[in-house]
Amino acid sequence: MIGRNDPCWCGNGMKWKKCHYPDPGPLNQDAHLGVKEHYLKKYGIFIKEEDAIQKIRRSCQLAAQILQKTCEQARAGVTTLELNDYAHRLTLEAGAIPAALHYGRPPFPKSICTSINDVVCHGIPDSVPLKEGDILNVDYACILNGFFGDCSQMVCIGEVNQEKKHVVKVAYDCLQLAIEVCKPGIPLSEIGKVIETHAHASHCSVVNKFVGHGVGLRFHEEPQVPHYRNSIHIPLVPGMIFTIEPMINAGVRELSIDSQDHWTARTLDGKPSAQWEHTILITNTGHEILTILSMN
Ligand code: MF3
Ligand code: CO
Repeated sequence: MIGRNDPCWCGNGMKWKKCHYPDPGPLNQDAHLGVKEHYLKKYGIFIKEEDAIQKIRRSCQLAAQILQKTCEQARAGVTTLELNDYAHRLTLEAGAIPAALHYGRPPFPKSICTSINDVVCHGIPDSVPLKEGDILNVDYACILNGFFGDCSQMVCIGEVNQEKKHVVKVAYDCLQLAIEVCKPGIPLSEIGKVIETHAHASHCSVVNKFVGHGVGLRFHEEPQVPHYRNSIHIPLVPGMIFTIEPMINAGVRELSIDSQDHWTARTLDGKPSAQWEHTILITNTGHEILTILSMN
């Protein structure tokens, strides 16, 4: 996009603002577009306005509440199917729809993802009881009045070993460090850089087969948000809403997808994996974590 102080496109050497401004010229047809139109046209990103933001905020608050309540039920002896049914019931009681249910191809069969130990993500709730020493990720997303919120967190079942404790903490810190850098003007690639740097310094690897994503009007929107070093240098702007959901492995980053259910992703070396996820709004001054429970 041509800037007011750039040389005019006509080539006479004067600044654009003193010359053909505001005519964008033949090569800069986007220059007259506002940020919102520019981001949609160039990147396919929907910049949200205040009324949509308020509705997405409500959906995210509901998601955070249901995630927390569901995680409070997780303990040795409880099955992930019971957690699923509980989250499903709370969702319907709130007048919402579970976003995961029937999502994708093949349709995801349950309302939450439950990923235990070496399961990286997209684990399917079943009738196997949780046991002491397990680490569990519960991933929950809902649709409230047509708007999406998405979040996940880890739960340690009783005492877990050092390696599991470590990967759970590193994944948590990766998410927090990435959120801290989010503000208007920073390139999207900064998120992956911060996460990869911390994960590697902590002797962990970063999964590159799944990414964070724009969210709010749809479950998965542009942009993709890689958690590893990348060259997506799109500047963050106010009104962008996306998830950050780093999957951090204690061993190698490689994974395999279950050939029977086509969803469950497991680490190739069988070592544990952890993930935490928030939905983030870019504000004029920085960011707002939409899936953190607020007081009201
Ligand atoms: N947070 C996960 C994601 O964005 C939720 C997956 S739900 C599923 O991919 F249905 F796709 F499994
Ligand atoms: Co997500």
